[in-house]
Amino acid sequence: MEDKIKEAADFLKHSRFTTAFTGAGISVESGIPSFRGNGGLWEKYDPKILDLQHFLNDPAGSWVVIKQIFYDFFGMAKPNAAHLILARMEKEGMLGRTITQNIDNLHQEAGTTIISEFHGNSKKLTCLICHRDYHAGHISLDHFPPTCIECGGILKPGFVFFGEAIPQLPLAEAYEAASLSDVVLIIGTTGEVMPANQIPFIAKEFGATIIEINPEPSAYTDRITDIFLQGKAAGIMLKLEKQLFPAPLNDDQDRVD
Ligand code: APR
Repeated sequence: MEDKIKEAADFLKHSRFTTAFTGAGISVESGIPSFRGNGGLWEKYDPKILDLQHFLNDPAGSWVVIKQIFYDFFGMAKPNAAHLILARMEKEGMLGRTITQNIDNLHQEAGTTIISEFHGNSKKLTCLICHRDYHAGHISLDHFPPTCIECGGILKPGFVFFGEAIPQLPLAEAYEAASLSDVVLIIGTTGEVMPANQIPFIAKEFGATIIEINPEPSAYTDRITDIFLQGKAAGIMLKLEKQLFPAPLNDDQDRVD
């Protein structure tokens, strides 16, 4: 594994434009369960709670479950080392854009600023009637469905439901990044959900080197991944960080007798 980490770091250090493509797996070590796989949300909940028509048919009932999953404990989750190291890579000019499928806001809380959220963000609620946006922290979720202060319309979570269009801006940003990338660093995604899952494939078409971090193989591993760093996001990113940013020599080491 050490050799692969060094090889991956070499590609990242020499890349003119690197894109990170992240999924739920990067937030598992922050305490947020993934959707699929052992202990995933879809083992406990029916994915239909994220279906737009289902929400529109029963907003109150949908909100009861949505609050349990996405609001009751999301607020406690904090960025882990993987989020923080991606933010450091961006700050040091080693990461051109982060494209995330996640709605947990942890990349932003870690300090990432150049980010495209394919599936929106749970921190925002939007009125279905007047489209006014609210910060989720400013709206009481003690009664369902929450309603717009302005017009009384039902508020919908600011994330993309199945059956809902991907917002145009992140879509355009993601496709542009995919076409520019020398390297795509895929972290923690099964690669099963369209159209987000196409981004690494598009980048590969444009000649990108694909580096993937996941404890398990994904839809990418045997098809386009060039360097598969098998393991959990935080642990692997900490090893990668040591190669990308070797610790500065301290005075004693600098001095040559
Ligand atoms: N570190 C890295 N990867 C991990 C870790 C970890 N600690 N734990 C699990 N994983 C991996 C799993 O092996 C799996 O490949 O993270 C991935 C999680 O897959 P999914 O739960 O399918 O999440 P994701 O790929 O992001 O789902 C895409 O599906 O339900 C929709 O809108 C939802 O954005 C989500 C989309």
